[in-house]
Amino acid sequence: MTTDQGIGIENTDDSLRVGARGPTLLEDFHFREKMMRFDHERIPERVVHARGSAAHGYFQVYESMAEYSKARFLQDPSVKTPVFVRFSTVAGSRGSADTVRDVRGFAVKFYTEEGNFDLVGNNIPVFFIQDGIKFPDVIHAVKPEPHHEMPQAASAHDSFWDFVSLVPETAHMVMWAMSDRALPRSFRMMEGFGVHTFRLVNAQGVSRFVKFHWKPLLGVASLVWDESQKLAGKDPDYHRRDLWEAIEQGDFPEYELGVQIIEESDVDKLGIELLDPTKIVPEELVPVRRIGKLTLNRNPTNFFAETEQVAFCVANIVPGIDFTDDPLMQARLFSYLDTQLTRLGGPNFAEIPINRPLAPVHNHQQDGFHRQTINAGRANYHPNSLGGGCPMLSVGNKSGFVHHPEKLGGQKARVRSESFGDHFSQATLFFRSLSKPEQEHLIEALLFELGKVERKEIRQRVVERILANIDGELVTRVAEGLGLPVPRASVTPKGKLEKSPALSIENLKKE
Ligand code: HEM
Repeated sequence: MTTDQGIGIENTDDSLRVGARGPTLLEDFHFREKMMRFDHERIPERVVHARGSAAHGYFQVYESMAEYSKARFLQDPSVKTPVFVRFSTVAGSRGSADTVRDVRGFAVKFYTEEGNFDLVGNNIPVFFIQDGIKFPDVIHAVKPEPHHEMPQAASAHDSFWDFVSLVPETAHMVMWAMSDRALPRSFRMMEGFGVHTFRLVNAQGVSRFVKFHWKPLLGVASLVWDESQKLAGKDPDYHRRDLWEAIEQGDFPEYELGVQIIEESDVDKLGIELLDPTKIVPEELVPVRRIGKLTLNRNPTNFFAETEQVAFCVANIVPGIDFTDDPLMQARLFSYLDTQLTRLGGPNFAEIPINRPLAPVHNHQQDGFHRQTINAGRANYHPNSLGGGCPMLSVGNKSGFVHHPEKLGGQKARVRSESFGDHFSQATLFFRSLSKPEQEHLIEALLFELGKVERKEIRQRVVERILANIDGELVTRVAEGLGLPVPRASVTPKGKLEKSPALSIENLKKE
């Protein structure tokens, strides 16, 4: 053993003291360094997705996707692109239990030869809100309440349901969050979704819209509520252990990358607002094409260095893939870099080994806390004639990132498009797509969660303003179970909704 200065340590068990029973000396540089390092071991946990587990692996495309995207990692089936994947819960703190009812993060960092591409997804294909400016609100409402830091469980409290009852755009996601999808049996048995609509752009500059999916080869499986509650007590590391042990045993988790590709000219026909992250594109309308496979085959060497310090960012993108104007995505493009500046102690976190791209990095960024690179030479500006000029990749070399030249125009205002106005039709679609036992689980989950809400008016608002617009049987069962009046206006004698939304797979197909 040595100190951080490389000086050999002869004894690390006894402090340097005066006499066998005397005080410790300030001179004991080894003690002071050891204690100082320990005192500063913690960094802030992630503001969301604090609890996570990760693994290394690789991604291989099945066949060239050149027709759709020029991204190099999507061209050659013989190329194995290294990846690091972190799974997480959203609401709990770093030490919270794995099996709680919550959304799961599914974040993949592809270390491609053109730089890092991060697909920072969830296991639920939609989100609670449409515009990122509401993210602090929804997260404040989901996290433990500020005065007493309770409850630790994500959804079983007044503030979460208060928010839901007042923000109808949450309806679709709430259906998923109350379903068995929010209780995955294993990280190896859950789907992943990019959620937003992205673009794929080919070498000719043709852009198409795309929704990304991860499909686990083991299939999708969930816990039931009773199991998940018992496990949270008996083995809070249930998912972490499952992932670690499967990989140690050579039972490597595998997921296929799926894409739903939508021609720009088909968007109107589809009739779904692709920029609204509370909407899916039903797979019956646009089938998911499986284009490659992700294999997780190596556990991290050190949890802190890798799982904790990894910094995913929606803005990490490679040529051939591009963003859209989804207002949730636009907010995320800012938020991740911003939070990591604090969480990882300054602007140089891309130099931490787990975040470092395999592609070479050249630019005039310099200095700042924890800088590792030693910039050489005198030219730290562009253009310059003193240091080789530092040519731009996009000049004469097509591999530089060029943003898709989307045409834009409009009035500057805080507005939301009317096309974002339908909050319930896909919530209905989701509920009615479930099997009977799955619907029972969802109703029981609502009764459990809403049953914990102290304020009667909040329960009532959820029933009247949200559930009544989703499904007649659902609202009747929940209202009766909670001892609330069944909102009459919404339910026909057959238990069908009068306000039944227009969107259905049948209607869409007919159109
Ligand atoms: C983590 C912000 C929506 C998936 C985070 C973090 C922030 C954040 C600040 C912590 C990052 C860190 O400390 O490294 C936001 C904002 C959102 C949003 C502002 C909406 C405007 C979403 C959505 C998804 C998502 C829609 C899924 C598609 C994730 C995942 C992580 C994460 C998976 C954990 C990454 C990891 O494992 O380190 N988010 N988020 N977030 N977010 Fe979001």
